[in-house]
Amino acid sequence: MKEFRTQVAIVGAGPAGLLLGHILHLQGIESVILEHRSREYVEKRVRAGVIEFGIANLLEDVGAGGRMRREGLVHRGIEIRYDHSAHRIALSELADGRTYTVYGQQEVVKDLIALRLEQGAALYFEAEVSSIEDVTTNAPIVRASMDGEDVRVRADFVAGCDGSYGASHRTIPGEVLRRYERVYPFSWLGILAQAAPATEELIYGRHENGFVLYSMRSASISRLYLGVRPEDTLEQWSDDRIWDELTERLSTDERPEVNRGPILERGITAMRSVVIEPMRYGRLFLAGDAAHIVPPTGAKGMNLALADVRVLAEAFDAYYSKNDEVLLDAYSAKCLERVWRAEEFSNYMTQMLHPSEDDAFENGVQRARLRQATQNREAATVLSRNYVDLNSL
Ligand code: FAD
Ligand code: DHB
Repeated sequence: MKEFRTQVAIVGAGPAGLLLGHILHLQGIESVILEHRSREYVEKRVRAGVIEFGIANLLEDVGAGGRMRREGLVHRGIEIRYDHSAHRIALSELADGRTYTVYGQQEVVKDLIALRLEQGAALYFEAEVSSIEDVTTNAPIVRASMDGEDVRVRADFVAGCDGSYGASHRTIPGEVLRRYERVYPFSWLGILAQAAPATEELIYGRHENGFVLYSMRSASISRLYLGVRPEDTLEQWSDDRIWDELTERLSTDERPEVNRGPILERGITAMRSVVIEPMRYGRLFLAGDAAHIVPPTGAKGMNLALADVRVLAEAFDAYYSKNDEVLLDAYSAKCLERVWRAEEFSNYMTQMLHPSEDDAFENGVQRARLRQATQNREAATVLSRNYVDLNSL
């Protein structure tokens, strides 16, 4: 059995765990990060792509935003398409000049891993955490297995940053934990394609056939999504069927174009909303997807995770530099207020843009919401502020 002793044991090397480890390092607080998967796997996992204004500033302020600033695409608006017409929402104009940045989640992860390794700080891949014990004492223990060997990490605190399928939230006893969930009756089929984007700004569309989203990663890589049935499989979606459907759902009377190219990556993701309360139990603190899931329509998942970490790192700093536990005690309630705001926004965007197959009343409401969001300045302002900078509001 291998044993480590550290100040903060971090479970999971997604955006949340890696950013927390990095900020703690800057604050002189020691941590050990344990990640179930290999480095190659986490660096290649294609997921989110939209970084809010305040979260981009956070990454820059902590020295993790250099490549994002150089290579990320700065955007000032989005387009919304419905009823075969296109409507631009001038996000920056309506949100005090703030912009958002398109930069892949796996690029953020690569940048943070490189920094961690440069610092010589502890980061173990292929280390699966099986249990977290004694969290109601001052000496919690994280148990993991690494290369077939049992590992025990003793820490002052544990940060559960291990996503929705991780071990952390299962440590909270049933009589303490409250779980709120909504499952949506559709999934997203996402592709990454070697094709120049045919649009400068992101396009969200509601078509009779379902949801569509046109995004990108660079001048030569497109990222596109289709709303599909939850039971759909990738085998049912040939390349031609995907491109034909994207083209049909994105077409307007004036602008039908989608650039096609080889599909580099594809996946189907179920859509759900989950909130776990509280986000703290004893000396275990949950951050990111370990505590909450949003449907991706508002592009909030990674931003929320990184915003939790900002609050948690500040609380650890107050504890270690001033022996002050006030911020640790406030952590869960402070985050949950913002988390529920993001849940509301993600739910609003999701329900507005995914037509129902059998509920004509719901479809009427959705189209009324779309008209309001695109034609009423007050409604567009609320949407804009939430889209570009919800986590700083
Ligand atoms: P994660 O990134 O999930 O990181 C958790 C880490 O913990 C993982 O590396 C995992 O391997 C590790 N782990 C899990 N269990 C253990 C264990 N027992 N021991 C050790 N390590 C463990 N958001 C958007 O905004 N837009 C999108 O388009 C979008 N697409 C998505 C597509 C998919 C398929 C998924 C699953 C999510 C998507 N999201 C999207 C959400 C966004 O990617 C997440 O909100 C974000 O990854 C949260 O970061 P995190 O660090 O909290 O969790
Ligand atoms: C992307 C993902 C989203 O969920 C979204 O709302 C916008 C863009 C993307 O992967 O680029």
